[in-house]
Amino acid sequence: TQNTAIAYRAAMLDSLGDPAEIGLTDCIRYFEDGLMLVENGKISALGNAPDLLPQLPQGCEIKHYPNALITPGFIDTHIHYPQTGMIASYGEQLLDWLENYTFPAEQQFADRQHADEVADIFLTELLRNGTTTALVFGTVHPESVDALFSKAEQRNLRMIAGKVMMDRNAPEALTDTPRGSYEESKALIERWHGKGRLHYAVTPRFAPTSSAEQLDLAGQLLKEYDGLYMHTHLSENRSEIEWVKELFPQQNGYLDVYDHHQLLGERSVFAHGVYLCDEECARLSETGSAIAFCPTSNLFLGSGLFNLPQTEQHRVKVGLGTDVGAGTSFSILQTLNEAYKVMQLQGVRLHPYKSFYLATLGGARALQLDHQIGNLEPGSEADFVVLDYQATPLLSYRMAQTRSIEERLFVMMTLGDDRMIKHTFVMGEPVYNRD
Ligand code: GUN
Ligand code: ZN
Repeated sequence: TQNTAIAYRAAMLDSLGDPAEIGLTDCIRYFEDGLMLVENGKISALGNAPDLLPQLPQGCEIKHYPNALITPGFIDTHIHYPQTGMIASYGEQLLDWLENYTFPAEQQFADRQHADEVADIFLTELLRNGTTTALVFGTVHPESVDALFSKAEQRNLRMIAGKVMMDRNAPEALTDTPRGSYEESKALIERWHGKGRLHYAVTPRFAPTSSAEQLDLAGQLLKEYDGLYMHTHLSENRSEIEWVKELFPQQNGYLDVYDHHQLLGERSVFAHGVYLCDEECARLSETGSAIAFCPTSNLFLGSGLFNLPQTEQHRVKVGLGTDVGAGTSFSILQTLNEAYKVMQLQGVRLHPYKSFYLATLGGARALQLDHQIGNLEPGSEADFVVLDYQATPLLSYRMAQTRSIEERLFVMMTLGDDRMIKHTFVMGEPVYNRD
């Protein structure tokens, strides 16, 4: 079936740009009765079904999904696969949560078999939530990354991941050394970076768990290979920020620690950024660095409210992150539900088109992958989902009252979750079927 063309007929929605930049009218593309042609894993045509049907190749199969919406696969710009088994852990804010739950869970990844099992569960969970690309934390163990990349390669997923670099302020069993982390990361880069649809992210956990020497070597790695990502955490929690100031008194704030070690750039993604000043936003913008907005995590750990308008003013790239296991759902729809509430608490309306942008094209731009994924533009890789408007009795009843795609989109984001994902396709191949 590799070379045959298949056409998909349904309502189709994709994002053409950031509404903050091009406005609400131009940012979205919608076909009520749409048709998408997929050939050799890529989208080759998109438009109104009545226009495109006569032009389809001879004998082309047409898959029709009434009462469903096709969108690009969702993009999760920040998630920890080793934390799959400790999601929903009670009671703590960031630093105690790390010590009491996260570090013990991550120690289990010294065992390759455990890593293999969790990697499989994790990728299955992503796909059953319609997420086709993610930027993923491993643990300090290089084998944890081998496990994830092997499973992602088998499923032909576009995935980015890296080994945690962490040489202090963590349990002995979870620490490496500056040189050791450099060598282990380098070996993983050689093995996986650019293989199929996989990319490597140099992954210092966060400033408090890396020495200046380790951060220096992380910066050095980024210079040695093209297309590497840099993935870390930034300004998530007030106590964390105070700690960074104590540990790096010579630097001018949290972002400056990373900047000093040359870790900012077009493929640098910083999770959270809840407490950023204008100077930091300007610096992120100037360097092309991105923020992963992680609403369920920020609420669950009581970290704070992300200031999305501030990043818009500074034109900082922003994607959406679930941040599982501090985040409470693998579902990007549920993550948008919480994002809306985070904005409500700040008196800001998060428009469904902006939400949809963050979940798709915005994420792709944050990852510099918008020429491959993020919308349904012909030439893009055919990673897409079929969303079922009748997934639950309430959804079905509520949808029957809607009069526009804008309204349906908002209902989807508020009431929808994994139950809405009827099919997930990767490179034109079905990788998850709900029923
Ligand atoms: N900061 C450093 N490590 C972590 C982590 O595992 N999760 C979250 N949410 N923040 C972090
Ligand atoms: Zn995180």
